[in-house]
This record gives sequence, C-alpha cells and structure tokens, in this order.
Amino acid sequence: MDYTPVKGTHDIFGSEAKQHNYVSYVLKSTAELYGYKGLETPVLEHTEVFSRGTGESSDVVRKEMYTFLDKGNRSVTMRPEFTAGIVRSIVSNKYYATEDLPIKVFYHGPAFRYERPQLGRYRQFHQFGVEEIGLDSARADAEIIIMAVHMMHNLGFKTVNLKINSIGDEETRNNYRTALVEYFSKHIDNMCPDCKERLQLNPLRILDCKVPADQEIAKDAPKLKDYLSEASEKRFYETLSIINDFGVEYEIDDGLVRGLDYYSEVVFEIHAVSDEGKDYGALGGGGHYGGLVRSLGGPDLPGVGFAMGMERVVSVMNDNHLLEEVTDGIDFYVIPVGEDMLDEAFNLTMAVRSMGYSAETPLANGKMGSLFKKAVKRKAKYAIIVGGNELERGVINVKNLATQEQKEIALDDLENALSDLIDPIDEGCCCGGECDCDGECKCEDNKEGCCCCCDSKNN
Ligand code: HAM
Repeated sequence: MDYTPVKGTHDIFGSEAKQHNYVSYVLKSTAELYGYKGLETPVLEHTEVFSRGTGESSDVVRKEMYTFLDKGNRSVTMRPEFTAGIVRSIVSNKYYATEDLPIKVFYHGPAFRYERPQLGRYRQFHQFGVEEIGLDSARADAEIIIMAVHMMHNLGFKTVNLKINSIGDEETRNNYRTALVEYFSKHIDNMCPDCKERLQLNPLRILDCKVPADQEIAKDAPKLKDYLSEASEKRFYETLSIINDFGVEYEIDDGLVRGLDYYSEVVFEIHAVSDEGKDYGALGGGGHYGGLVRSLGGPDLPGVGFAMGMERVVSVMNDNHLLEEVTDGIDFYVIPVGEDMLDEAFNLTMAVRSMGYSAETPLANGKMGSLFKKAVKRKAKYAIIVGGNELERGVINVKNLATQEQKEIALDDLENALSDLIDPIDEGCCCGGECDCDGECKCEDNKEGCCCCCDSKNN
C-alpha cells in the first residue's frame, strides 16, 4: 500500500490553508466590487465539454486530461480548467435567457492536468477565475484586465508584469495560420513529433512548444501583429487605450498566443518572478473568446475572462513576504496556574471566544514552562495567565509573547482591554491617539481610519 500523495498532488495544511483562504477571499472580494457573482460547477463534466470547448488542438485536451469511463460507460473528465464548464453551466441552465447580460461570475476550486510536475506546476492545482459573458466590447475586455491588475494590487503586489497581445478575429487567424503553415512546413522535419502533429491540428500551438530547438525555429516565424485585420487592430488599440487611462502598465508580447483554443482578440498573462528570483511561470492568464458559447450549444455570445493559479500566487507572495501576517496562529492561549484553575481557564477561554477572538486552553493539567512553550508553538499573540490569587483580586495577567511584556487586566474591563491589545489604535496617526486637535484634525493626509476623536468630534 502506498500512502504517499499521488504524484503532482499535495496537501494544504495549517498556515498554507489559511493563506489560500485569504488569497481567494481578497480575489473574491475584488470581483464582488465589480459586480461578479459566484458560480460553482462540478469537477466532473462530460468529456466533450472540454474537447469541444477547450479545443482539440490544445495540449490540455490532447495530453493532459484525467478522462475515464464511469460505471455507466460514459466518458467523463475532471476539469482541466473552468471556462468550458462555466459556459456549459450557463448554456444548460439557460442563464443567458434568465439573467441580465453580461453574466458576470467568479469561481474557485481544484483543476487537474496530467503535466510533468515542477516548480509551480502540479497535477491537481487550484484556480480562482472570472468570466463575463454576453457583451462584445473592447471596454468589457479592458475592464477584466483592469480588474486582474486591481486584484494583484489588493494582494499587495506593488508592480504587476502584464503581458498582452491580440490574436485577432477569425480572418486574422486564418491568414496567420496559412503563413505559419508555409513557414513551418520548411522546418518541420527537424522539429519534435508534437510540433508535427500541431502543424496539422493548429500551427499556432507550435509557438507554445517548450523544446529549445523548436523555439529557435519559431523565433523567425511570421509575426501575428503583421496579420491583424483592421477591425482587430482597432479593437486592440481601443482596449490598450482604456487600460492606459487607468494607469495599468503593460508590455505587448507578440509571441503570446495562449495554450487554449477558444481565444480570439485580446489575450493576456500576469507574470512575476519572486524577490528570491524564482520563476513560477504565469500567475494568471485569460482573454476574449468568440465562439465558445455557440460551440457548447448556446447562442452566439462572446465572453472574456481569466484565471489565476492559486499555488503560484501563494508561493510568490510568500517569497515576497506578503503573507507573513496570515498564519494559523491564535490570539490568546489561556494558561491555568495549577490544576484547580483548569475550569476557570476553560470558562475564560469561552468568554474570550464569545468576544470574537481566537483562543485555546489546555484541557489537561500541565507545567507552566511547557504550557508557555505550547502557547508559542500555537503562534498565540498573547498568553493569558489565570491564577487563583489574581482571580480573587478580579484580575488576570496577559503576556505579549513577542515582546515578553506582561500586564494586569481587570476582569470587569476584559472586552475593552483585549480589543486594545488585538486592534490597537492606529499608531500612524499624527496625534498618537491622544488628540488635542479640538475637532480640527491635524493629520497631514486626514486619512481614513485616522485614530481618533477628530472624526467623532466632527460628527
Ligand atoms: P491557463 O493559462 O491554462 O488558463 O491557466 C490559468 C493559470 O492557472 C495559469 O496562469 C497558472 O497560474 C495556473 N495553472 C495552470 N496550470 C497549472 C498547473 N499545472 N499547476 C499549477 N498552476 C497551474 C486557463 O485555465 C483559462 N481557463 C483562463 C481563462 C478564463 N481564460 C478565459 N477565461
């Protein structure tokens, strides 16, 4: 019996689980700012959803899907990506008829691809993504890109490396395909077997080939930008102009074609090399799609969307020290001084929890030294020490485990005292919480969240 996780899968525990929750919470909250609603679709779909939706020529469909026959002999696939399943849901539930267009949804969950595991690449990974379906405009495409960058800023990234390109409309891609076939036909004998197949199925995919010798050949291939139709070029520059107006910085990457077949017009990716120099690959990517809804049996509606890879985002954020505060630690560890204080400590712990703070207490007797060690191991911010003598005086001791400072707190002021410890007054305020401003705030930037009485006096 092999009890190790299946190759390319991993367990997410404790602080890491908390970090995933935090990142998805920030992404979801940002999507909600833009009016997006949650949509959860099954992990399992009929295989055609992805073969038709994601595309027969994509590596994902050709080589990477977890596909099997269920006990009813139906071919089903564990989603390798969400977009096709989301569109299937919109079509089969006819949301396009019952909801106002565009339909704007976000999603989060595991996806499965049989890829070679390496840094930032798993066989089971998690995506957070959004899709906006039913509106064909450069403004809709631009809004999605602006939102992706907004999400990165909300996660704490100061700079975002946004690569963007247009793969044009059908006319563009037909002309470009012809040019690629002509070019690669001359070199195909020296290229990998995958590229030979790609040349037949979709020569655009050759541009994604990871074999160095093939990449060298692809460098001199015709450039997509030279084949953009007038309409696609106009639309692309309109999109760029809108995102520009919102201060979004980008780099046009005319080699960016994305690996899934449904895209048309604008495509983009977000990259980041961590402060430690590790390159986890693209943190997220997406773009506009024209024919996907129709190819899955729905009306002729366009869509645009993107997805982030949660593992990659969490890894880069850890390397860049953006998640140091997000741990599985607790606020208070309540330590009874002796066995006869176990009940009091238990009752106090329940009271602290009812005030909204996380707290734990040992449920069996222990020595003070080992209980303090436990408090540190649980990453508690404070230890509350419950002793008989102190309780008789109506007080407890609270020790800051980072600074080792200890002070007495009166039990009848417990709620205020704990709140001051966990949510102290903003020390960034110029008046340091002791305001003598007499109703006229002296904070230079009069920032929101200013500690103080100025707000209350002004009101
Ligand atoms: P994708 O580029 O295939 O696009 O995946 C999006 C993100 O998922 C990638 O940028 C990467 O961060 C993460 N990812 C992909 N494969 C793996 C893997 N094997 N291990 C870890 N992370 C991975 C899509 O999936 C499209 N559905 C995005 C989209 C939405 N386009 C339009 N709407």
